Amino acid sequence: MGNIQSSIEKINGDFKKKDIISLDQFTPTDLSILFNATDKMKKIAINAIPSSLLAGKIVTLLFYEPSSRTFGSFAAAIKQLGGQTVEIQDPQHFSSVSKGETFEDTIRVFEAYCDAIVMRHPQIGSAQDAAEAAFFVPIINAGDGIGEHPTQALLDLYTIYEKFNRLDNLTGVIGGDMLNGRTVKALIKGLSLYKDITLYLLSPDELKLSRQDFSNFQKRGINLIEINSEKDIPKNADFWYWTRVQKERFPSINDYEKVKNKFIVTKDLVNNYAGKNTIIMHPLPRVGEIDESVDKDPRAVYLRTQIRNGMYIRMALLALILEKA
Ligand code: NCD
Repeated sequence: MGNIQSSIEKINGDFKKKDIISLDQFTPTDLSILFNATDKMKKIAINAIPSSLLAGKIVTLLFYEPSSRTFGSFAAAIKQLGGQTVEIQDPQHFSSVSKGETFEDTIRVFEAYCDAIVMRHPQIGSAQDAAEAAFFVPIINAGDGIGEHPTQALLDLYTIYEKFNRLDNLTGVIGGDMLNGRTVKALIKGLSLYKDITLYLLSPDELKLSRQDFSNFQKRGINLIEINSEKDIPKNADFWYWTRVQKERFPSINDYEKVKNKFIVTKDLVNNYAGKNTIIMHPLPRVGEIDESVDKDPRAVYLRTQIRNGMYIRMALLALILEKA
C-alpha cells in the first residue's frame, strides 16, 4: 500500500460523493461550509429533533483496528440522521478476510451493500487504496495507521473554532507522540491552512515528527517549535492538545516503556503554564497522560465538548456527502 497520493480529489466547495482521505482535500471555505452544517447538526442532536437527512442510506463501518469512540460516534451520527449501519469490526478474524480475501475484494463486496464506507485500517495509505478500489461509494478515512485521522482533526478544529471564533492567529501546544499519532498530523495539516499559527511540539526526542513530516509541514507556512521540556511551554497558548503514546506502533514493549508518559498534564502544570482561556484537548483514549484531577477544570474540554463535537461533525460530513440533491 502506498503513501497518501496528492491525487486525492479536493472538496472545492462540493462534498457530494467525495472520499474523505486527508486534510489535504480541504480549504478554509470547505471548513466553513462544514462548520455551518455542524452548527445545525448540533441543534438536531441536542434537541433530539427527528431527522431524515440520511433516511434510506446505509453506511458500512469497516474497522480493521480497535475503536470505540470513532466507531460509536459514526454509528450514532448516522442513526441520529435516520440512516442505518452495517457494522464490521475486526474483519481479519470474523469475515472472509480470514479466508484470504483481498482487501480490494472486501471493499467491493461491502460497497455493494451501502452508500458509503467508513474505514479504519492499520496501514498508512489504506484509505486511499480503498478509495481506488471502490467503484461506486465514497470512502471515509477513520484512521489509516500512522497516516491521518481526518474526521478527528475536523472535530478538533471545530472545537478550537467554537471556543475562539477563529482558526488563524493561534498558539497551541501539542504534547505526546508526534511520530505515530495520526490525529496530530491531520490537525497540523488543518491548522496550516490558516495564518499566524504557532505550535509548540512537546515530546521526547524519540517521538518527534519524522524529519520529512516536519519539513513538509513547515513548507505550508506553519510555525513549528519543537521542545522537550515542560519549562518551554509558552504561557499564552490558546489550546493544549495532548496525545497518547501509541503503544501498538512500537516494535517492542521495552521501547514503549522507555518513552511513555514523559509529559503528564497535572493540575500543577495547568496552574503554572496554562492561561485563563487555554482549552485542554485530547483525542482520547488517554492512558495516564492527563491526570484525572484536571478533568473538573472548566478549561478541560476532552471529555466534554470535544467528544460531543465528534458526533456533530460526522453528522454534518455524512449529510454533505450523502444528502439527496
Ligand atoms: C485516536 C486514534 O485512533 O488515532 N483515537 C480516536 O480515534 N479518538 C487517538 C488514539 O488512539 O490515541
